[in-house]
Amino acid sequence: MDLTYASPFFHFVLLLTFLSMLLSSTTTLASGFTIKEATVQDLQLAFQKNQLTSRHLVEFYLNQINIQNPVVRGVLEVNPDALAQADAADKERREKAPGSYALLGSVVPRDAGVVTKLRKAGAIILGKATLSEWSHYRSAAAPSGWSARGGQGKNPYTLGFPCGSSSGSAISVAANLVTVSLGTETDGSILCPSNFNSVVGIKPTVGLTSRAGVVPISPRQDTIGPICRTVSDAAYVLETIAGIDTVDKATIEASKYIPKGGYAQFLKKDGLRGKRLGVVRLFYNFGNETFMHETFKLRLKTLRQRGAVLVDILKIDDIDDISIAQSEIIALNFEFKLSLNAYLKDLIASPVKSLAGVIHFNKKHSKLEKLDEYGQDLMLAAEKTNGIGKVEEQALLNMTRWSENGFEKVMKRNKLDAVVTPFSSFSSVLAIGGYPGVSVPAGYEKGIPFGICFGGLKGSEPKLIEIAYSFEQATLIRKPPPLRKL
Ligand SMILES: *[C@@H]1O[C@H](CO)[C@@H](O)[C@H](O)[C@H]1NC(C)=O
Ligand SMILES: *[C@@H]1O[C@H](CO)[C@@H](O)[C@H](O)[C@H]1NC(C)=O
Repeated sequence: MDLTYASPFFHFVLLLTFLSMLLSSTTTLASGFTIKEATVQDLQLAFQKNQLTSRHLVEFYLNQINIQNPVVRGVLEVNPDALAQADAADKERREKAPGSYALLGSVVPRDAGVVTKLRKAGAIILGKATLSEWSHYRSAAAPSGWSARGGQGKNPYTLGFPCGSSSGSAISVAANLVTVSLGTETDGSILCPSNFNSVVGIKPTVGLTSRAGVVPISPRQDTIGPICRTVSDAAYVLETIAGIDTVDKATIEASKYIPKGGYAQFLKKDGLRGKRLGVVRLFYNFGNETFMHETFKLRLKTLRQRGAVLVDILKIDDIDDISIAQSEIIALNFEFKLSLNAYLKDLIASPVKSLAGVIHFNKKHSKLEKLDEYGQDLMLAAEKTNGIGKVEEQALLNMTRWSENGFEKVMKRNKLDAVVTPFSSFSSVLAIGGYPGVSVPAGYEKGIPFGICFGGLKGSEPKLIEIAYSFEQATLIRKPPPLRKL
């Protein structure tokens, strides 16, 4: 199967409206403030100036969800407490109670680690986003962005392919149903929907953000990151969610990558100056290459004009995407079974207790769930595995070798700050080594958005943010999609 195209693996997603976030059916308030397309910084300023209340903000988004979600299906569930939380935030702001986190009282015991951090920072959880069912780890045949409960998520620009698996997160921020969102990536699930829905996605170094409480595929590859309309919003969200969570041990080791003073300091307009970027001319087998090619070249020219040094990377030793895909799927199959079983066992209450239970549940509900149509081949293959045998060990060794002798060597030999690729076509290389990547809007071809992706070594988020922000500010390509309604 084509890991990069058909089934970016992904997980759940939460939609967040930052710092208590207006309105009614118009987007401009009596105060003159416009919520549509507002950034986190715009909102904070508007709160300070009393131009905006959290209630207005949440009402605006709920209204947009009512209008647009029946078409685009980016939101699975709205948080029933969102308005109450907005009122609490407004009250707190009015009383300016120092250090009192009124919102903390509403934290449920099993919030995911990243959600806890967001709530503490004052975010209101607006709801859950739709995604490819089971992060696209049930059936290779199921369409990207489809789930039995959420229906088919649609790209608000084209009403077509949204890419997955964190499709709903990208759809929802693109269509202004929320301020910012989170997605999960195992291979491509943040980068690909960001690419297709013309938004910014950061796939952090594995372990930089806690995976605790998130339905897993692979502890070795899974990572949670922001999907937002701008690089600066994504940097603020990353700053909020990165850090140690003792429930996810990988965050302890990775915390060494977190820069003192956070990520916002890297939002520099001249961030491309002097950066060495490797242009990867492999992994182009994603969608229609020819139509991309000319525009990608133009974007490379922009990078050069802004002071980056481009180094052509024609080949990365040992790697081709077909052999990556084979080893990766061997590893993900056994990792999915082990980690999902552990996750389900840990739940206080659940109708299913194991992968075998999920498969049985799916069979029983096959009519309802279109199972006859899509099957559950990925789950069946995972269930057949039995821990780490010879083949699995070989697959893991393969990926370590490719990462160390391939990507890391190329980066070091050429003294690169990052690589640059069209689309999310490089996601598997970043996935198997736990490396970070950022997708930024790069254009529209016949109305279909596409992005440019920057990837780097572990912990290179500061550089990637500098590069991505500088590129975004040089191009300012993103345009909001048309309003979608029935
Ligand atoms: C790719 O795009 C070009 C230009 O738009 C078009 O002529 C060609 O048919 C497309 N190829 C495929 C395989 O879709
Ligand atoms: C390991 O990689 C080699 C190619 O380098 C490939 O032929 C082999 O099938 C891979 N093994 C596994 C178990 O994925």
